[in-house]
Order: sequence, then structure tokens, then C-alpha cells
Amino acid sequence: MSSLPWKLIALVGILIQLLFFCKQAESYASYFDRITSLPGQPPVGFQQYSGYVTVDEKKQRALFYYFAEAETDPASKPLVLWLNGGPGCSSLGVGAFSENGPFRPSGEALVRNEYSWNREANMLYLETPIGVGFSYARDTSFYEGVNDKITARDNLVFLQNWFVKFPQYRNRSLFVTGESYAGHYIPQLAELMLEFNKKEKLFNLKGIALGNPVLEFATDFNSRAEFFWSHGLISDATYTMFTSFCNYSRFVSEYYRDSVSPMCSRVMSIVTRETSRFVDKYDVTLDVCISSVLSQSKILTPQQVGETIDVCVEDKTVNYLNRKDVQKALHARLVGVRQWAVCSNILDYELLDVEIPTITIVAKLIKAGIPVLVYSGDQDSVIPLTGSRKLVNGLAKELKLRTTVPYRVWFEGQQVGGWTQVYGNILSFATIRGASHEAPFSQPERSLVLFKAFLDRQPLPEAF
Ligand SMILES: *[C@@H]1O[C@H](CO)[C@@H](O)[C@H](O)[C@H]1NC(C)=O
Ligand SMILES: *[C@@H]1O[C@H](CO)[C@@H](O)[C@H](O)[C@H]1NC(C)=O
Repeated sequence: MSSLPWKLIALVGILIQLLFFCKQAESYASYFDRITSLPGQPPVGFQQYSGYVTVDEKKQRALFYYFAEAETDPASKPLVLWLNGGPGCSSLGVGAFSENGPFRPSGEALVRNEYSWNREANMLYLETPIGVGFSYARDTSFYEGVNDKITARDNLVFLQNWFVKFPQYRNRSLFVTGESYAGHYIPQLAELMLEFNKKEKLFNLKGIALGNPVLEFATDFNSRAEFFWSHGLISDATYTMFTSFCNYSRFVSEYYRDSVSPMCSRVMSIVTRETSRFVDKYDVTLDVCISSVLSQSKILTPQQVGETIDVCVEDKTVNYLNRKDVQKALHARLVGVRQWAVCSNILDYELLDVEIPTITIVAKLIKAGIPVLVYSGDQDSVIPLTGSRKLVNGLAKELKLRTTVPYRVWFEGQQVGGWTQVYGNILSFATIRGASHEAPFSQPERSLVLFKAFLDRQPLPEAF
């Protein structure tokens, strides 16, 4: 028997397989972004991708992303974008590798995070704006004057172009989540998405979740004094000064205008001395120096004179992401910087944008039918729960939303995970008990319960 027909059949078989592969290999582009394996990574059953998405061809600006598909059945699970704050801190280093991603660095290796959010969703981490982490602009003059507007537009263009790489996610239920200064990024991005959808329905936006977010500068910042005072970080006399002579929003306003008044300077130095740099402001019960990765909000805590010493020396995530083999596996490049940094040193962000209220944008989103969750790690003094709760409460009143779940505890296992209140089945507030500014870092289990309830639009567990 001649073997020719068999060879032909085999050849045709290969061709068919190839064709099939090309058709189903999502898109060719995402194929190149696939991560074979991260150095030191335990074996896992889900796919990971990372790489660049160009947001401006002419100016050669590109944003870096890391995408961890859901652990099981990714096709049936939503797409969730996660953004860290700063402005200028990395969603890869903080979000993915310290908070809710699938792995955390440990020595030379990576260990699994049992409470990774990719148990419930396909998690997309974006280093934004340009100049953060591995994201770059070829023309470094672009780093001057980056602001909320530019960030929101770039984030929108990123997603549009990311969908070209991952067309199978185009019409997927989409949630945008994040924390801290992402209280600016997220509502601003969501607003652009809704505008874009009027021309072409691209974004299947199903909700946003904001963790310890900056939503209204004065309310958020001035709740710090009471938090310090009630947790014993400042004296009665200092509390009085910090709420009358110079409050925190006034100090920050003056600070970013380079015009700190003698009064504010005096009050702030007393506050700084009493609170002590040996207490972590992002979690007043936590010992200092878990990792410098967690001090993501430079803008929210401008450094007072004499506070420049970094009490943190070692940093696992910084070490890991600066390894050449890791960068190769991630398809990452260092452009115009010598090191990957948690928070950008080259970005010159428009810091006065912190004063733009985004709670008004949140109101618009709710009116457009987008569910909103504001949650708060209750040990954080940087953006304390009391400010967030007051803002949500005020918003519910303004929108005439009735309480649908009255203020009550919620459970994770047999313990209270925090408190919650829901308004009009669309606006939710929740605290996470014992959690820091980076809630999924310090309370991963409780954070995952909250995340799942948010995705499912279910009330938080009322009993155990
Ligand atoms: C997108 O998903 C919705 C359901 O969520 C469906 O009705 C619609 O047909 C889908 N559109 C496309 C283009 O696949
Ligand atoms: C903070 O200080 C500013 C300027 O003195 C003042 O307008 C504002 O009402 C104060 N806010 C609070 C909550 O004390």
C-alpha cells in the first residue's frame, strides 16, 4: 500500500487543525501576550496574559496590563478591571501581587492567594496612567501635567484596543473596581464608557466598586481628624486644633499650592508628631512596614518635613518585578526608567485634580442604572469609613433612594465581616471589619465574600 494517501490525509489533518487553531486562538494578538509561566509560579489551571496596548500610535504611548483568567470556566464569568490609586501607583504591584491577584511573591517563588478574585471573575489589572510601572511614553515630556482627563481617556482607549486583542470579552459583563485615588479614575472612566456606548454599544458595564475611595476631597480628608482622635492617635487638644485652626483639606490645598500657612504648618507638625511615623496610616492597628508596596497614596498623605525616612527596606514585590526573567515572562520592558517602581517617580500628575468631586459622577452613573458599591476597610485613617459613609448617605438622599437593606452586620463564615447598607437596590455601602486601606491585602477572605456578592448583585450574607 502506498503511504502517500496517508501522508496527504495527515497533511490535510494538520491544515484543518491549524485553521481551527487560528479561528479559536481568540485573536492572534493575544496569543503573543500569553504567559507560559511566571518564574517560581506553582502550576495552575488558568491562563495568564500580559503585555502592552498602544493608546496613542503617534506619540508612542502604551499601557501595560496583566490579565488572569478565571480559575474555572472563564467563558461564563464576568470581566473585571482593577485600578489602584496614587495617582501614579501600580495595579500590577499593589493590586495583583499584594491584594487580590492569584499570586504573592515569597522569597524567590510565588505562592497562591487562596482568596484571589479570579476565583469569581476574569481579572484585568492595568498600570495607568502612562509612566506608571511598565507603562510608558517614548516622549518623556508627556509625563508632565498628566491629569484625570488624560487618564480617563487613555483608559477608555486602552479598553477599546484591548478588546481587539481579546474579542471574546467584548460583550462580556464588565465591572470596574479599584481603590483610593481610583475613586477618581473609575467614575470618570465609567462616564466615558456610557458616552461611547451612545455611538457604539461596546461596554457592557454592569457595575463599579470603589474601595476607600476619594470621592469628595473635603469630606474624605476631614474625616481623618475624628478617626485619629477616636483611635487614640491624637490628643483632645490636637483634635480641637485639627478641626478648627487648620483641618486636613485646608492643609492639603495649601500644600499643593506651595503655600502652607504658618498655622497649618504648626497644626500638622503636632499631628504628625503625635500620630508617629511608626503607625501605619493605612491601617492604624497594623505594625509598620509590611511592605512599602502598600503605601500607594502619596497624594493623600503628603510627607511632612522630617518624615522622609523609609521604615521599609525589603520589598518582595519590588524585587520580584525587577527580575529580568520575570520581566521577560511578563513581556514587559523598562522604557525611560531603570527600575520598575510601585509608585511612579517620573510622572508629574496634576495633584490639584484631587479636589474635583467625583461623587457627582457617581450620581450620574446611578441615574443611568449602573450599580455602585462603595466599600471601606475600617482600620484605614487615610480615607476613613466615616467620610465614605457620609457621602453615600448624602447621595442616597439626593437621589431619593430609599433604604432597601437597613444598616446591619454581614457575615463571612461565623464572624462579622463588616456592616452594610443598601439604597434603592443600586447603591451599596459596606465596611470590611479589620481591613486596611488595601482591604484585600489585610482581609482577603472577607474581601472575596464582598466581591462575590457585588458581582452577583446579592445582598451580603445576613447570617451564618
Ligand atoms: C451582547 O450580550 C447581550 C446580552 O448581555 C446580547 O443580548 C447581545 O446580543 C450581545 N451582543 C453581541 C454583539 O454579541
Ligand atoms: C476646613 O477648613 C476650610 C478652610 O478653613 C473650611 O472652609 C471648611 O469648612 C473646613 N471643613 C471642616 C469639615 O471643618
